[in-house]
Amino acid sequence: MPEDSDEFYRIQKLPPYVFAVINEMRAKARAAQIDVIDMGMGNPDGATPRAIVNKLVEAARNPRNHRYSQSRGISRLREEITLRYAANYGVKLDPDKEAIVTIGAKDALAHLLFATIGPDDVVVSPNPAYPIHQYGVMMAEGHACMLPMPDAATFLSRLKDFYRTSPRKPKMLLISFPHNPTTTCVDLEFFREIVGLAREHGTMVVHDFAYADLCFDGYKAPSILQVEGAAEVAVEIFSMSKSYNMAGWRVGFCLGNRRMIAALARIKSYLDYGVFQPIQIASIIALRECEEDTRKICATYQKRRDVLVDGLRRAGWAVEPPRGSMFVWAPIPEPFRSIGSLEFSKLLLERALVAVSPGIGFGPMGEGHVRFALIENDHRIRQATRSIGQFLKQEASVPAA
Ligand SMILES: Cc1ncc(COP(=O)(O)O)c(C=O)c1O
Repeated sequence: MPEDSDEFYRIQKLPPYVFAVINEMRAKARAAQIDVIDMGMGNPDGATPRAIVNKLVEAARNPRNHRYSQSRGISRLREEITLRYAANYGVKLDPDKEAIVTIGAKDALAHLLFATIGPDDVVVSPNPAYPIHQYGVMMAEGHACMLPMPDAATFLSRLKDFYRTSPRKPKMLLISFPHNPTTTCVDLEFFREIVGLAREHGTMVVHDFAYADLCFDGYKAPSILQVEGAAEVAVEIFSMSKSYNMAGWRVGFCLGNRRMIAALARIKSYLDYGVFQPIQIASIIALRECEEDTRKICATYQKRRDVLVDGLRRAGWAVEPPRGSMFVWAPIPEPFRSIGSLEFSKLLLERALVAVSPGIGFGPMGEGHVRFALIENDHRIRQATRSIGQFLKQEASVPAA
């Protein structure tokens, strides 16, 4: 039997991970004891707040919590997330019908698509994007239709054109703000327009709100569910990963539209037995008691953003400071633009010992950029920008071939 998995029907649709090239180079450098400053993957480096860890330990000691849990999540956790939505956004949700616990946002996204999208259903999303937004659709055999998003207004106007001109109406819009990787942020008016279009055309909306709490300079990211009537067409996916430094714990939620949540609950009831119950119990504490920790986590990213943007500017590389997310989306400096984002990322790793994500890894419209994740401390970020500055200077002094 051949060992190449590419022969399998679904696997054929999934190209090898672009980021794997950089990951491999980084691993090799580290194996050779070379210190690489890693700003590649959006993997939070901070510890989960102590109160959450303590609750996990306590709950894990109770044998009653060792059994299968409920696939849709324990009711007290579903209640707690609806309380948070009421307090933070003034949104009222029914914990039984309008909230489900998921194994992180990725589980929610992948299985919601699997549950609601059939062959050739059109799913429209901005590009570049977090890869599962596109590949989740393809795995569900839908048709992923990507619209460029140089900014939110342009995306909206392209979406309106799409509704006007495309013979096949979208079955779903899949969006995410603050946006990974471009860091685009929107206001509530943008969501009003999205919900208006979706209601007019009978389209489902999925809003991936993974960076809900990572907002800077006084900006507060709106929830799509704040729009009146949003729950008739939309669900929002909230994740514990970034707001509470709980990426490895795998907890998220899908909230809003009852039909979509019932579909997700049905499919998940076949696939899993829910998140380990002590983790769900500890998540209740996170949602109930750890708002201050979330503010501190956010302040840490904001400080790192400033250090990075300032350091890059000194290095001669001008980038826009983002209003949200945990990334900086940087246009490749002009002299390197023609080599493309993958080659440029390799150069940064080889010559400046800094790992970033090439924009092309987020889809064809990500080309021309690299993404820095703010997962190193201020000191290491300064070191990274100094090293990048030296690299850019050396390159500038080499006469063009
Ligand atoms: C837009 C977006 N959605 C979802 C996720 C994954 O979230 P979770 O850890 O809850 O699966 C990420 C992680 O980087 C992300 O950037």
